[in-house]
Parts: sequence; C-alpha cells; structure tokens
Amino acid sequence: MPDLADKPKIAIGADHAGFHAKELIKKFLAAQGYDVEDVGTASEESVDYPDFARRVAEGVAAGRAQLGILTCGTGIGMSMTANKVPGVRAALAHDIMTAHMAREHNDANVLTLGARVVPEEQIIAIVREFLNTSFAGGRHQRRVDKIMAMDKK
Ligand code: RB5
Repeated sequence: MPDLADKPKIAIGADHAGFHAKELIKKFLAAQGYDVEDVGTASEESVDYPDFARRVAEGVAAGRAQLGILTCGTGIGMSMTANKVPGVRAALAHDIMTAHMAREHNDANVLTLGARVVPEEQIIAIVREFLNTSFAGGRHQRRVDKIMAMDKK
C-alpha cells in the first residue's frame, strides 16, 4: 500500500473536451496512491471551462490540495483562468520537457493540458513527469518570487 502521507493531494478538473483525459489521469493517480479531489465535469456534455479551473485553482490556493491538474481542449482557457487566482502558478505543458521545466524552473502548482493537442498516449507520461520533478530553487526562487509579488498589487 503506497504511503499517502508522502504524496501531494491533487485537485483535478476538466471541461467536456478534457473529460476523457481527466478520467485517464484520475485512474492513473488512484493507481499510484494519490489522494484526488475531482471537481468535475462528469460527462462530455458542454460546460464552461472557467467554472472548473476556478474550483481547482481556489482549492490549491487555499491549501485544500497541493497540486492541481486541469484539462480542456487546448489547455489555454484552463491556464488563463487558473492564473487569475492569487497563489496559483498554472503551466500549460505540451510534452515531457515542458512539464519538467514547469516544475523545475517555475514551481508550477497547477498543470494544464490540451486534450485535443496532446496525443492520448502521452498524457500520463506528461503527468508523471510533472509529479516527479522538484523545484530547483536558487535563482529560480528569486524569479518565482517576482511573479508572486504581483499577486499583492
Ligand atoms: C471548448 O470547445 C474549448 O474552447 C475548451 O475546451 C478549451 O480549449 C478552451 O481553452
């Protein structure tokens, strides 16, 4: 049995275009022993992505989850919305490299994915890379601090 105490709690959300990808990711996370909160959506019926991005982002900002994952058609609307919430650093990743750098250099706390952009067979590899990469700190901390200072204006 995996030790849940070692793993971040993850909030996950999607719109209709990202629903299938969300289900794949949720299954993967559960198999890996993560504690997952799914904020919806629950089907491929058309919905508005900001509603789900906001729920996940506010959960991360409030500390109810340590990380968030959001999927929509392109990942763009999810990242735009999530980054409106103070404390959130949402990164749109298209591949393993961008998922890695989002954590290592930018300390992203929300991953957004475009289910109509990323081939389905690469989705889990991107999520795994995001979860398994640590923030490098150092000069990157100074830069992230400059981003976060903008929340205070
Ligand atoms: C829905 O058609 C689409 O606009 C949405 O999933 C997303 O791509 C928005 O950024």
